[in-house]
Amino acid sequence: MKRYHLTTFGCQMNEHDSERMKGMLESLGYSEARARDQADLILFNTCSIREKADDRFIAHLAEAKKAKSERADVVVGVGGCWAQSVKEEVFARFPFVDVAFGPGQVHKLAEFLTSDSLTAQGFFEFEGFTGRLPAKRAREYQGWVQISVGCNCVCSYCIVPSTRGREVSRPSSELVAEVQRLAADGAREVTLLGQNVNSYGRDLSGGERVSFARLLEMVDAVEGIDRIRYTSPHPKDMREDVIRAHAEVSAVCEHIHLPLQSGSSPVLKRMRRTYTRERYLDRVALIREHVPDCAITTDIIVGFPGETEEDFRQTLEVAEEVGYDGAFTFIYSPRRGTEAATLPDRVPHEIATERMARLVEVIQRRARERAQRFVGRTLEVLVEGPSRTDPARLRGRSRHNKVVNFAGLAGPGELVEVEITGATSQTLSGEASLLSRLS
Ligand code: SAH
Ligand code: SF4
Ligand code: F3S
Repeated sequence: MKRYHLTTFGCQMNEHDSERMKGMLESLGYSEARARDQADLILFNTCSIREKADDRFIAHLAEAKKAKSERADVVVGVGGCWAQSVKEEVFARFPFVDVAFGPGQVHKLAEFLTSDSLTAQGFFEFEGFTGRLPAKRAREYQGWVQISVGCNCVCSYCIVPSTRGREVSRPSSELVAEVQRLAADGAREVTLLGQNVNSYGRDLSGGERVSFARLLEMVDAVEGIDRIRYTSPHPKDMREDVIRAHAEVSAVCEHIHLPLQSGSSPVLKRMRRTYTRERYLDRVALIREHVPDCAITTDIIVGFPGETEEDFRQTLEVAEEVGYDGAFTFIYSPRRGTEAATLPDRVPHEIATERMARLVEVIQRRARERAQRFVGRTLEVLVEGPSRTDPARLRGRSRHNKVVNFAGLAGPGELVEVEITGATSQTLSGEASLLSRLS
């Protein structure tokens, strides 16, 4: 039996795509190898969102080269966003690569592996959804659902529109059927994935055309689904019906990831985000009005070209005012083929790093303050396994998407009630209540 080894970089969409790649390979009779040196097929699912992502992957690729020099019949494959962004150049730069394919061509990997001649080939069309391939899921109790692929936005810093193509939604009936299969197969939490989930459905027609808020209700109606998450919404499309779903649709969790990027309207304009600071804050106010306890997290870029000290202060102000429950913060990284990479007034690295440190201080302080509201409360926690820091304790997540480390007895996928006794900016801690098992 042939064996594969797959390394995944990047976002949750890539994690999803990798589960499908594995499912497809296993349906072809491959099994998973523990290490690269035991694999007949060495695969990478790549990301290109920032320069660091490229560098990390290229370091790993050197190991595949070594494996191939020792065992000539090893097949090396590179999929994902980096492959899509360099296309045929993969073979010029790394001649030992046998097959390269973009996120829209995962199914072609099967065709390649079953063809008679394994001469190097690249597949870079945007067609089909990886969501239609069989999956080998990493966690029985959790499932990813690809509701759309691609992105029609033109954020000037972002490589994703060129690596994932134009936005295409999957028909709602197909998605409901997929969630039903997931539930029957043990999933109780689903995460709906798309680059801009709340523009879902606009390209569909007839009975399949439903809004994102309606899709949430349809998924909620599937028996066995206790938690629904989604990522990412775009603030410009964050409508009141979606916000209300967090209060009114029982499985939709009390957490919204609302990427800010910058708190300065002129910077947002140059980023082509199509909202202003005021409009963003207005969305936050609407969330607080309908779902007062909702956790809000975000993504922020510092050091975008032309970002002045005054622009940056506005980002700090928004971070202070919103009081995020958590945030991913990034130093701007110029990406090939993007508009922002051609903009003047690059922010020197030392200034960007200094701003990053100031931003992280505000984010962490506010997150710590926000987290105190949970102390003394009993939260429903979905158990993931042992705690990473203390194997005698358990780790899980609250509906607010907070990591909770706690004392108790339960297995992965169980819902338990945990009394929260402590809170830091990142995690909550507590003890499972007696008779805590909810199921
Ligand atoms: N489609 C999603 C995810 C985009 S990538 C969304 O729009 O929310 C995740 C995050 O990476 C972005 O929100 C942004 O904060 C960051 N990012 C994207 N391109 C970047 C770049 N060139 N430099 C630094 N950060 C970047
Ligand atoms: Fe990139 Fe913007 Fe699309 Fe997100 S919405 S994937 S940041 S272009
Ligand atoms: Fe995701 Fe990276 Fe592509 S963040 S969409 S894998 S560039």
